[in-house]
Amino acid sequence: MNAEGRTRLDQMPEWIALREHREQLGEVRLREVFAADPTRGERYALRVGDLYLDYSKHLVTDETLRLLRALAAASGVAELRDAMFRGDKINVTEGRSVLHTALRAPLSKVVESDGENVVPAVHAVLTKMATFSDRVRSGDWTGHTGKRIRTVVNIGIGGSDLGPAMAYDALRAYSARHLDFRFVSNVDGADLHEAIRDLDAAETLFIVASKTFTTIETITNATSARDWLLSELGAGQDAVAKHFVALSTNAEKVAEFGIDPANMFEFWDWVGGRYSYDSAIGLSLMIAIGHDRFREMLAGFHLVDEHFLSAPPEENVPLLLGLLGVWYGGFHDAQSHAVLPYSHYLSKFTAYLQQLDMESNGKSVDRAGRPVTWQTGPVVWGTPGTNGQHAYYQLLHQGTKLIPADLIGFAKPVDDLPPGLVDQHDLLMANLFAQSQALAFGKTADEVRAEGVAEELVPHKTFHGNRPTTTILASELTPSVLGQLIALYEHKVFVQGAIWNIDSFDQWGVELGKVLAKRVEPALRADEQVPGLDNSTATLVAKYRALRGR
Ligand code: F6P
Repeated sequence: MNAEGRTRLDQMPEWIALREHREQLGEVRLREVFAADPTRGERYALRVGDLYLDYSKHLVTDETLRLLRALAAASGVAELRDAMFRGDKINVTEGRSVLHTALRAPLSKVVESDGENVVPAVHAVLTKMATFSDRVRSGDWTGHTGKRIRTVVNIGIGGSDLGPAMAYDALRAYSARHLDFRFVSNVDGADLHEAIRDLDAAETLFIVASKTFTTIETITNATSARDWLLSELGAGQDAVAKHFVALSTNAEKVAEFGIDPANMFEFWDWVGGRYSYDSAIGLSLMIAIGHDRFREMLAGFHLVDEHFLSAPPEENVPLLLGLLGVWYGGFHDAQSHAVLPYSHYLSKFTAYLQQLDMESNGKSVDRAGRPVTWQTGPVVWGTPGTNGQHAYYQLLHQGTKLIPADLIGFAKPVDDLPPGLVDQHDLLMANLFAQSQALAFGKTADEVRAEGVAEELVPHKTFHGNRPTTTILASELTPSVLGQLIALYEHKVFVQGAIWNIDSFDQWGVELGKVLAKRVEPALRADEQVPGLDNSTATLVAKYRALRGR
């Protein structure tokens, strides 16, 4: 049965079987299941590429996993996956193929959208990006006055910012340290101001990253950046060509903005914004790490794509991660999911995943437009360990909410860390392992008492445990490993969307606010009546105007 005509998820026998199983299971006590199965830690572990994934500290049994896999099979996850990789228009509300996997396909692969093999075009753009990034890195590309480029400023928002900004931070240790990279996204002028205030315009390259090239924040910032550049250089429009390049699907709008189409790096409407940083949108990253490293990253993505396509369900890591999320959302009423990387280089990783996951699966109607009666995407949140431990982990350990978490860590610190700082790595990782242990197994009242704690404090010092975590461990954070991690999460989100029967590839929910902002803006500048403003918003607008002295 196709996704539109599919039996409603919560009426499927496989879903009902899971509900009954959950009732029978009651609370899975992790202390008990580990005691009953001393090899659980080894048994509940999977590998993909360089990633080792321990899922033993989850509230599941062999039977839970079997039932979840049966649900995946009945929901047609594999069929939808194949349709995605094949280029079928699975983004039903926009009538588009979903082919980010073609962005990392080797040239020998054939992937068709609308009957055309897209892989040669992907590689042609990669080659063009490589030539350009080599020229910027080597100093061969010069600005209007003949000076070499020293700072690259990426202007974009959402997928046109979060991906490159996250990946640049993640792979900073591999980056050309003689170049400086900055990322501007917010329409708050302070963002652009702080990014350019100390720059020499003659040595600055702006990359305007926008799939549509109509996004108001990006076009506003790019226009201001262009005004700044021309005024700083005292130059005419012809200076733009040496200081602005565009990453877009919209050649017409790029030309309208004044960027030479020769300096446009193309991608296509079958690449969703939040799935785009391995397309031309990654140009700033390629300049930073070089095209060889960029290609290593693409190979990492591709490795996980192949695994997702071909690994059997019992070994399929994205499938497993997706199913665990379905289990907690559907049968434990979990509302959120924490992603806690134990790596400073992954500071922006969770923010990136927020868009990937929440823009994809924050939906409340199914693919046929019918309201869903089951939980869809969770709130994704988190920051790098160990910082969070001194902030919100209290709630993870002793709060009233069940929050499944992913802990991500690396055996080796990056290569260019000085020896004194390398030693700190064991401490970092000891914290990761300790947290997963404390969350799972807690500390009983008897254990607390045995330490001689006063009876009235015993409840306060007791940890219930049973807080589920996945631990993802890799040898080190290389470009390939980053690609593997991102592809893993992309496909996890895919699996969940397929089971929940929602369109994970549109984002209509961001539109209303954009339209209303356009309507409200004139009223902030002049005493204009905006039709249809509610009393709260109208009063706030009036207050704003008064505070601005207007
Ligand atoms: O408003 C949401 C969104 O459309 C995202 O999906 C996208 O990543 C972002 O805006 C930026 O869009 P663009 O690349 O077209 O400027």
